[in-house]
Amino acid sequence: MAPMVWKASFKGVFFMTSCTLIILKLTFFFITSIPSTSKLMIHDHDDHHFDMKAPVDQSGETFNPRISTHRQYEDFARILHEEQPTTTDVGGLQPGNGSNCGGSSQQVTDPPSQRGSGHRPMVNTSQAVVHEGGQPSAGSSPPTKKGKALNDIQQTEVYHDKDIFLENYKQMNKSLKIYVYPHQKTDPFANVLLPDIQSSPGGNYASESYFKIALSVSHFITQDPSEADLFFLPFSIASMRHDKRIGTGGIKNFVKDYISTISHKYPFWNRTGGADHFYVACHSIGRTAMDKAPEVRINAIQAVCSSSYFLQGYTAHKDASIPQIWPRPGTPPIRHPSKREMLAFYAGAMNSRVREYLVKTWTNDTEIGVHQNRLKTPYSDSLLGSKFCIHAKGFEVNTARIGDAIYYGCVPVVLADHYDLPFSDILDWSRFSVVVSTEDIPFLKRILMEIVDSDEYLKLQKNVLKVQNHFQWHRKPVDFDTFYMVMYELWVRRSTIRIHLFNE
Ligand SMILES: *[C@@H]1O[C@H](CO)[C@@H](O)[C@H](O)[C@H]1NC(C)=O
Ligand SMILES: *[C@@H]1O[C@H](CO)[C@@H](O)[C@H](O)[C@H]1NC(C)=O
Ligand SMILES: *[C@@H]1O[C@H](CO)[C@@H](O)[C@H](O)[C@H]1NC(C)=O
Ligand SMILES: *[C@@H]1O[C@H](CO)[C@@H](O)[C@H](O)[C@H]1NC(C)=O
Ligand SMILES: *[C@@H]1O[C@H](CO)[C@@H](O)[C@H](O)[C@H]1NC(C)=O
Repeated sequence: MAPMVWKASFKGVFFMTSCTLIILKLTFFFITSIPSTSKLMIHDHDDHHFDMKAPVDQSGETFNPRISTHRQYEDFARILHEEQPTTTDVGGLQPGNGSNCGGSSQQVTDPPSQRGSGHRPMVNTSQAVVHEGGQPSAGSSPPTKKGKALNDIQQTEVYHDKDIFLENYKQMNKSLKIYVYPHQKTDPFANVLLPDIQSSPGGNYASESYFKIALSVSHFITQDPSEADLFFLPFSIASMRHDKRIGTGGIKNFVKDYISTISHKYPFWNRTGGADHFYVACHSIGRTAMDKAPEVRINAIQAVCSSSYFLQGYTAHKDASIPQIWPRPGTPPIRHPSKREMLAFYAGAMNSRVREYLVKTWTNDTEIGVHQNRLKTPYSDSLLGSKFCIHAKGFEVNTARIGDAIYYGCVPVVLADHYDLPFSDILDWSRFSVVVSTEDIPFLKRILMEIVDSDEYLKLQKNVLKVQNHFQWHRKPVDFDTFYMVMYELWVRRSTIRIHLFNE
C-alpha cells in the first residue's frame, strides 16, 4: 500500500519540477523577445478596452509593454493570454522528451494517430507549449507505438491511473484532517467568513460556497489543530466583493489584515509560512486578492477556479484547479448521441478575442451553432441537442460551460489555452473532452468531424457520463463528488510532515 502512494507522490514531484521549468523558460522568453513598437491593450472587467500606449506597428499584432514592474508584467501576461504567440515566438522552446508534463510529451509535428483517420491540418501553432494541464491538444495525439488494443482499453478509462487514485483516495478519506480558523458569531465580518450552512448556493460562483458548506458537515474537520494536516482560511472573495464595507477595492487589505490577525493569535501560520494553509475561491478577482499578502500566494494552497498557469499568481503543482459549476441538483438527463443533431454549440458574451474569433469564424455554419446573444430556446435544449459543447475562454480561462456540458452528456471542447483543467492530475481529459488550441479555431469543424466519423466520439461521450459525479456538488458531500475530488487535490498537495515527539 504505502509504496504505491509514495510512487504517486514522487511522480507528482517530478511533474511539478518539469512543468515549472517550462513555464519559467517560456516566461523568460516572452519578456526578452518583445518587438519594439506596438499597441498595448488592456481588457478590464467590464469588457471595456482602452489603449495604454498608442504606437501601433504595421501588423498591430505585437506588443511593447516595456516591462519593468511586476504590475506591468501582469498586464502584459493578460494580453498574451489573449494573443497566442506564433511558432517563431516560441522557437526552440518545445519541451523535449524529458519534459513529460502531465504525461504527454509529444512533438508538434507528430502525425495524427488516434483521433480519426489522419489528415489533421498541420498548423503553425504553439501546441508544443505545455497545454491545459499537460493535456494533448486535439491534434497532437499520443504516439501510435502503444498499439491499438492497449489504446482501446485505455480509452474506456477516464483516470490516469485508477489504482493509485483509489489507493490515495482511501488514505485521504481516512486520515486527512482540516482545522478551520474559528470566529465569533458576533464578528462583524462573519458574513464574509463562512456561509450559512442552510443556504443553497447558486449562480456562477457557487463552487466556493458549496465547498464550505460541504466541508463544514464533512468528517475532515477537526477542532484540534495539533492533528490537522491543513488549515483553512475561510474568507470568501465573492462575499467580500458584495460587502459594501470591503468591496472589490478592499479585498487585498482585508486578506492582509486577516493573515496578520491569525499569525499573531495562533502559532500555525508562522510555523510554515502558510504552507499548510489553503483557501478556496471561484471569482476571478481572487487572482489579485493576495497581492498584499504575498505569503499566501507563494506558500499556501490556492484552490481556485481561475487556474491559468500562464499568469502569475497560480502555480499548477502547488495550487489546485476547482471546477466552476452551475448547480443543478438531481439526476442528469440522458440523450443518446444519435439524437444529438447539431455538431457543436456555443453561446456567450463576446468578452475575449477567442470568443470573437470563434463566432466570427463559424457564424454562418449550419452544423456549428455559435450565438453571441441570449438564446431564444432553452439552454438545456442546445446542450442536449449537440454532440460537442464548446467552452471558449472569456475574461478568464474558466467558465461554467464545462460543467454544463458534462451534466448534459455533451462532449466538452476546450478552447482556453493554458487552462490548468480541474483534477487534471487525476482525470485524463483527453478521454472525455477535446482540447483544441485557440489557433486551430478555423479547423474546428474538421477536427470534430473526424472524431465523429471514427468511433472516437462514442467513446468520448460514454466517458463524459463516467465523470459526471466528479463535477457535481452536494450540500452533504457524496463520495467522489466535486468536494471529495478537491479534498483529494488538497491531500496530494499537503507538503508538511509533522513529527510527533514524546510529549506532544
Ligand atoms: C526523443 O526521443 C526520440 C526517440 O526516443 C529520439 O530519437 C530523440 O533524439 C529524442 N529527442 C531529444 C530531444 O531527446
Ligand atoms: C509554418 O511556418 C513556416 C515559417 O513561417 C512556413 O514556412 C511553413 O510553410 C508553415 N507551415 C504551415 C503548415 O503552415
Ligand atoms: C469515506 O469516508 C466516509 C466517512 O467515514 C465513508 O462514509 C465513506 O464510505 C468513505 N469512502 C471511501 C471510498 O472510503
Ligand atoms: C508571527 O510572526 C510575526 C512576524 O514576524 C510576529 O509579529 C508574530 O508575533 C508571530 N506570531 C506568533 C504567534 O509568534
Ligand atoms: C456570413 O454571411 C453574411 C451574409 O451572407 C456575410 O456577409 C458574411 O461575410 C459571412 N461570414 C462568414 C465568416 O462567412
